[in-house]
Amino acid sequence: MKKPPRSAIYDDIYFSTDDGFAESKAVFLDGISAPDVWKNQMRFTICELGFGTGLNFLNTVHIWLETTSDDQKLHYIATEKHPLSRADILNAIHWRELTQYVEEMLSKYLETDLLFDDRVKLTLLFGDSREQLSQSSFKVDAWYMDGFSPTKNPDMWSPELMSVMAIRSNSGAKLATFSAAGAVRRGLIEAGFEIEKKKGFGKKREMMTGIFKGI
Ligand SMILES: C[S@@+](CC[C@H](N)C(=O)[O-])C[C@H]1O[C@@H](n2cnc3c(N)ncnc32)[C@H](O)[C@@H]1O
Repeated sequence: MKKPPRSAIYDDIYFSTDDGFAESKAVFLDGISAPDVWKNQMRFTICELGFGTGLNFLNTVHIWLETTSDDQKLHYIATEKHPLSRADILNAIHWRELTQYVEEMLSKYLETDLLFDDRVKLTLLFGDSREQLSQSSFKVDAWYMDGFSPTKNPDMWSPELMSVMAIRSNSGAKLATFSAAGAVRRGLIEAGFEIEKKKGFGKKREMMTGIFKGI
């Protein structure tokens, strides 16, 4: 198994050393109950905190294109404070299932946000998650919280960020994260999410999923 990229700034890895592709599906897609969650939804908006290599985006596109009709539209919004280069992304995404998607994403990276015959719109918000969400006005149907570990990357798990997530959430919005940290759980509950602990991927004992119940 190829090693995942590592951030020198945060001294942490972008995804699991066991199998990033399987982890992404198990934690994020299964975590929000995809594809059932978007069944019969003509518009569906996902916001990912921490775009990184785009692995979660590409995995979501893969399942979206296989399970929806041409007239269903996915808007995928992602924040990213330290964007990776095209070369870093290409090097990180080595799974056969995702090759065709990463090529299309990179061919239009930063030029247009309409991808895959306009069935997917990708909006990248470059900068700090809380600042970016505060300046936006979209509403979200599902959240992927994928910062580096809370001890190394506290900005991505702060109560202030969670309060803005609540403002940006549609009622019943789903949430998935690899983290099961107590402070993260308490912050999300305080922000209005009902949180459930689930079995984690690989060596991780637990992860969390949530549903937005209102402020
Ligand atoms: C664990 S990695 C994300 C992995 C990614 N989801 C993927 O599929 O490759 C965490 C990401 O959060 C970004 N990040 C860290 N602090 C941030 C902040 N305050 N605002 C936005 N992005 C941040 C990092 O640069 C990194 O790309």
